Parts: sequence; C-alpha cells; structure tokens
Amino acid sequence: MIQFPKKFLWGAATAAYQVEGGNVGSDWWPWEKSAGNECSGPACRHYEMYDQDFDLAQGLGHNVHRFSIEWGRIEPEEGKFSREALNHYLAVLLALKARHIEPVVTLHHFTNPVWFAKLGGWEHPRAVRYFLRYTEFVVRALAQYVRIWITINEPTIYISHAYLFGIWPPQVKSLWRMLRVERRMVSAHLRAYRLIHKIYRQESLSGPRVSIAQHMMALVPCTPSLKNRFAASLRHKLFNERLLSIFLRHKALDFIGVNYYSRQLVDVQKWGLRNLLSDTCKAGHHPVKKNSLGWDIYPEGLSQLLLKLKKYDLPLMITENGICTSDDAERWEFISAHLKSVYGAMERGVPVMGYLYWSLLDNFEWDKGFGPRFGLIDVDYATFKRTVRQSALKFSQVAKTGALE
Ligand code: FCB
Repeated sequence: MIQFPKKFLWGAATAAYQVEGGNVGSDWWPWEKSAGNECSGPACRHYEMYDQDFDLAQGLGHNVHRFSIEWGRIEPEEGKFSREALNHYLAVLLALKARHIEPVVTLHHFTNPVWFAKLGGWEHPRAVRYFLRYTEFVVRALAQYVRIWITINEPTIYISHAYLFGIWPPQVKSLWRMLRVERRMVSAHLRAYRLIHKIYRQESLSGPRVSIAQHMMALVPCTPSLKNRFAASLRHKLFNERLLSIFLRHKALDFIGVNYYSRQLVDVQKWGLRNLLSDTCKAGHHPVKKNSLGWDIYPEGLSQLLLKLKKYDLPLMITENGICTSDDAERWEFISAHLKSVYGAMERGVPVMGYLYWSLLDNFEWDKGFGPRFGLIDVDYATFKRTVRQSALKFSQVAKTGALE
C-alpha cells in the first residue's frame, strides 16, 4: 500500500470554454460554426450548475479544483470590463471556499475574446499589453481568494495547433508566425508573473504561487539507434523543457504545473530537421493500451518526466492527467497506475504538491467535440444530469485517505 503525504492536494481540472456553455464572446464560438465542427453550445451548463458540481467534488473528497476564467466574458469588448462576469467568478471562488476546496485559477486556456482575435490575436503588437490589462483586472479583484495561479495553459499546444498545424483558430500554418506568437506568450507569462506578485505585495497578501501548465509527453526512442535517441532527447528539450527553462532563468515560476497524457514513440527515417522533430513509429511494435482518441497510455512516462524536472528544485503539481474512454474500469486503471508513477518519483525525492485529474466532468474536447469522455462524472448532454462514475468513487477513497492499494 502507498501512503501519500497528509497535505497532498487532490482534485480535478476544468476549463471555462469546455464546461461553462454559451461563451459567445470567445473566438472559438464563431470559429466552430464556420469550421463545421460540433459546437460547444451549452457545453455542461457549468456556468449555472457550478454549485451542484462543487457539491459533487466536495463529496468526492477533493480539496483542490482547477478552473479557468474566460477572458471573452470578462472583457467582451476591447477595454470594457464586465462586473457581472467578474462577480460570477467571485461567486465561483466563494462556492469553493465554502466547501474547503482550494482554487487553482487559469487565466488563459486556449480561447481569446472575439475582438482580440479580430485585431490579430497574439500576433498583434499590443497582444501582451491586452493580456496584462485583463490579468490586472482579474487578479486585483480576486487575489484575496486565490493562492495558486496558472497564467497560460499549455502554450506549446496552443501555438502548434493554432499557428503551425492550422487546426485551431486562427488556423495559421507558419513556423515563423508560430515563433512570433511564442515570443509574445513568453513575454505575457513573464510580465503576468511579475504583475501578480506586485499586486499581492501591494495588497499585503502572502506570496502567490504562479506557474504555467506545461504539456509534457514521454518521448521514447522506438529503437536505441543514435538517430532515435538523439531525436527523443532533442524533442524533450524543445517541446517539454524549453519554455520552462526560459521562465526559470527569469525566476518566473513558483512551481511547475505538469499536464501529462501520453507518450510519443520516436522513430526517425533519416537525418534531417523535419524528421528529427516529427517522425514517429507507425508499426505496431511496443503495443500499449490507448485511450478513445488513440493516444498511448504510458504511466511510467510520468515518473520519468517528474524525475527529469527534479533538477529545477521547485515544487511540482500535476495540473492535468486523464483518459477518455467509454470503459470506466479503464479510467480507474489509468488513474491508479499514474498515481503509482507519481509516488515512485516522490519516493526518489521529487516534491509533488498535488494531482488534478482531467476532468471533473465530461466536456467539450475542442475540435473533437463531445465524443471523448474524460470525466470523473458523466454528463448527459440532453438533460445535463450528472452521474458520478465508479472511478470517481475509487479516486475519492485515495483523496480522502491518501492511501492507494
Ligand atoms: C489538454 C488540455 C485540456 C483538455 C485535455 C484533454 O491538452 O489542456 O483542455 O483538452 O488536453
């Protein structure tokens, strides 16, 4: 039996656009329609049903909950800030507080206001200033209720999907434009980090913990050839650690948020930059189970990544880890295997503060629509009825006791 530390944070994560519903002021809203995708519509109606959802989380023993604030609601028009939207998020924070659930608040989780996108989004020369003005408005108002902030969720996924692969709005396919947006987002985090700390000092509040949620993949060489080993380590540096190391150089992370789902089997055809960066193994050797989106399930990768981050000497938090599946037994298998993997790293001295399962509820999985079921709680999208899954109950035993068989 494994015993996690007493103060360990246990909970689940969500993102505004994926659960709230009716996010008409966000760039994804018109884009979904124009792209002919399944539309987010009312999503899970979490904007109205958060009290009920937090009752369920509390009943499940969660002592932390990650959610995001929708910029397009807070600032529906450039420079016009909505008190009503702000009050909503204040009510959300009070609802968590009343249930003794610690909030982890994300400021940017993939979506932007429509007006911001129209101006050119993160390519606009004033993009960072716009983001900071929104950040200042939100953080000044909510600081006293929040200790842990995530400025930007998965910047590497956002920039690659939106500016390189062209599959998310604004559907750009350009390495140069992607790199420009990356520079803007790096600057946005650095400046938001300092701004949040400044606000806490001015308000005489004790130090916030500010980070990003970094998407990390286990990059595994398919064969031990030099090409494959070199490519795996290059990709690890570029995709997993590069942004973190920039932020650490600027002392702009108080902890490291890790989002972990899967592995990539690296199999490089020939020496060439494109091959080194993107060739994967197409053959079926090294088989592992997959989630319903076809992503490899690879729990040991989480331990390996956490151990690699040990050198930074900062607390770590698993800000997302989860599986989409129609077989709930697989979900519990996934969670328990990943928790064991986390524990393995902790035994070897990695300071992990908490584990947030993705997600509390089934939700709108971006361009994949409502098909993938990631939730601890099932959502019936016709009636919005919530049903707690068996895996949620098993996870709740761990959350309540810290013990895992
Ligand atoms: C992560 C995202 C999150 C969700 C999960 C499945 O990359 O941060 O919003 O879509 O994947």
